[in-house]
Amino acid sequence: MLSVLNVTKRFGGLTALDNCTINVEKKEICGLIGPNGSGKSTLFNVITGYYPSDNGEIIYNETHIESMAPYDIINMGISRTFQLPNLFKKMTLMENMLIASKAQKGEDIWRAWFGSGVKQQDYDNYNKAMDLLEFFNLVQLRNEYANSISFGQQKLLELARALMTDPEILLLDEPTGGINPVVVNKIIKSIKEMRDRSITFLIIEHNMSVVSRLCDRVYVLDHGKNIAMGTPDEVKTNEQVIEAYLGV
Ligand SMILES: Nc1ncnc2c1ncn2[C@@H]1O[C@H](COP(=O)(O)OP(=O)(O)O)[C@@H](O)[C@H]1O
Ligand SMILES: [Mg+2]
Repeated sequence: MLSVLNVTKRFGGLTALDNCTINVEKKEICGLIGPNGSGKSTLFNVITGYYPSDNGEIIYNETHIESMAPYDIINMGISRTFQLPNLFKKMTLMENMLIASKAQKGEDIWRAWFGSGVKQQDYDNYNKAMDLLEFFNLVQLRNEYANSISFGQQKLLELARALMTDPEILLLDEPTGGINPVVVNKIIKSIKEMRDRSITFLIIEHNMSVVSRLCDRVYVLDHGKNIAMGTPDEVKTNEQVIEAYLGV
């Protein structure tokens, strides 16, 4: 479904991704792990069009997306969350949800012009936002400002917001980072339910117990290079992986 082939990304003299290759299959929960600074977030930024890559190919459902803009990549069905929640803090939860709705490309101007359809679209988006906020236990907080809710709730809101564009694949950057075990369990359960509804996942996760509970398969990066791939149990016992983490 999503193939990253031999992608290299340099920042000046630093090679953040070095010939990196990964393949995500439809409906799988694929993990991406590696020590700090190994290039995981950079890989997300390159896939989603935030940074151009220096080399390599990114193919999504048979379409080359390596030169596409972030907005067009979202419209292809790829959505993401950030390592630190990237919300509009002075907007309400509901406003954050609605602002993420997929624009109806090429149509909105005409719909507005003729005064038809727009209201129906807004109404659909509002209902979708309500359903998603409900799914993540946030519906009671919908009129609160995003900066007034807990860090864990902000992570949930980001996840809910990423679903507003009807993604086929979701890239989550450390969805359980810095949050309490109750919310971690809620997130794990939600991700599994979403997968059962046919959403595919690529997840950066540093907590190995979460990886074991969640992921079908895991890629391991070190200094921007692929060093291992396999089931969580396989990579946990892989010598190169142990070395990368322990720095021996
Ligand atoms: N925008 C940037 N400019 C310069 N260097 C960057 C930038 N983004 C990431 N890097 C560097 O690239 C390397 C990989 O970073 P990152 O992808 O954030 O790692 P990870 O998410 O695995 O912790 C790090 O050395 C980091 O400092
Ligand atoms: Mg990171």
